[in-house]
Amino acid sequence: MRRAKITIIGAGNVGATCAHWCAAAELGDIVLLDIPQTEDMPRGKALDLMQASPIFGFDSNVIGTTNYEDTANSDVIVVTAGIPRKPGMSRDDLLSTNARIVTSVGEQIKNTSPNAVVIVVSNPLDAMVQQMWKVTGFDKSKVCGQAGVLDTARYRTFLAMELGVSIEDISALLMGGHGDTMVPIPSCTSVGGIPITQLINSDRLEEIVDRTRKGGAEIVSLLKTGSAYYAPAAACAQMVEAVVKDKKRVIPVAALCDSEYGVGGYYVGVPVIMGSNGVEKVIELSLTEKETADFQNSVDAVKQLVATMDDLLSV
Ligand code: NAI
Ligand code: 2OP
Repeated sequence: MRRAKITIIGAGNVGATCAHWCAAAELGDIVLLDIPQTEDMPRGKALDLMQASPIFGFDSNVIGTTNYEDTANSDVIVVTAGIPRKPGMSRDDLLSTNARIVTSVGEQIKNTSPNAVVIVVSNPLDAMVQQMWKVTGFDKSKVCGQAGVLDTARYRTFLAMELGVSIEDISALLMGGHGDTMVPIPSCTSVGGIPITQLINSDRLEEIVDRTRKGGAEIVSLLKTGSAYYAPAAACAQMVEAVVKDKKRVIPVAALCDSEYGVGGYYVGVPVIMGSNGVEKVIELSLTEKETADFQNSVDAVKQLVATMDDLLSV
């Protein structure tokens, strides 16, 4: 059986760590690409990773490159190219620089890997994935963004820490944009099947949600030189696995919503079924009045972000 070809664009913290998780889980052969200015860095990281293979016992081939020809006909492409946040910066501060980077990456991959499922990670996520879809012209099912798996994982971590229970028993969902407006869905949060509202009072739950919303900034303020990468990379690897193994995972993903939730043509975090064709279905939940209002507020923030990006790119 042919192994899946997984390309990771941007061999920095998230990209290299994603390559590590994907190789260790033997999800396929991996190409790690960065810009020519990084010279041999991607090759160095790939070789280092390959030399872990006898220890972990994985047969994935990992190569590093600065040449898109090496990425040709990838099955999955994870785009982490861009600059990360520094303390005091919001994700939106990255908008202008990363929009240009994502545009250049999209122009390359639309020709070299026309059938790939593209998972965008670069921030500000919801605008970057919208731009990637526009530049590649790929079917909407083939272009999506990683944010919800990470945000939900943070939320689940904080809930497990609060209750002193196994992380395995926490099931949760967050929707909306990857930012301060993300929307927890309490009716879809449970612990071993028990609704979260029976275990944590609403004030404490709101504090945990608030910590989740600021989860990225909390890591930035601790690291001081960059942003989170272990959990983001693990989230990407879960999405890659869903594609290469056609898992039909039900996970929150930034997906293009037209009529769904009345969004009208924007990428926003929603629960989807993810398999070998990428986003195979957007699942439409019936939300409470408050959840609907919060979601609409988040969609409005995403629309504003995309409008600002379009203005910046037009000058
Ligand atoms: P990093 O600085 O460690 O790595 C970024 C890499 O991208 C660098 O090696 C850089 O040379 C490369 N790069 C820049 N321009 C490129 C281009 N045109 N083509 C190919 N590679 C290019 O940054 P890190 O920590 O890996 O973060 C990457 C991006 O992911 C940032 O924008 C960050 O904000 C975002 N991020 C998003 C998350 C999410 O949940 N959506 C979570 C964590 C990070
Ligand atoms: C995060 O949430 C920086 O978006 C990134 O950690």
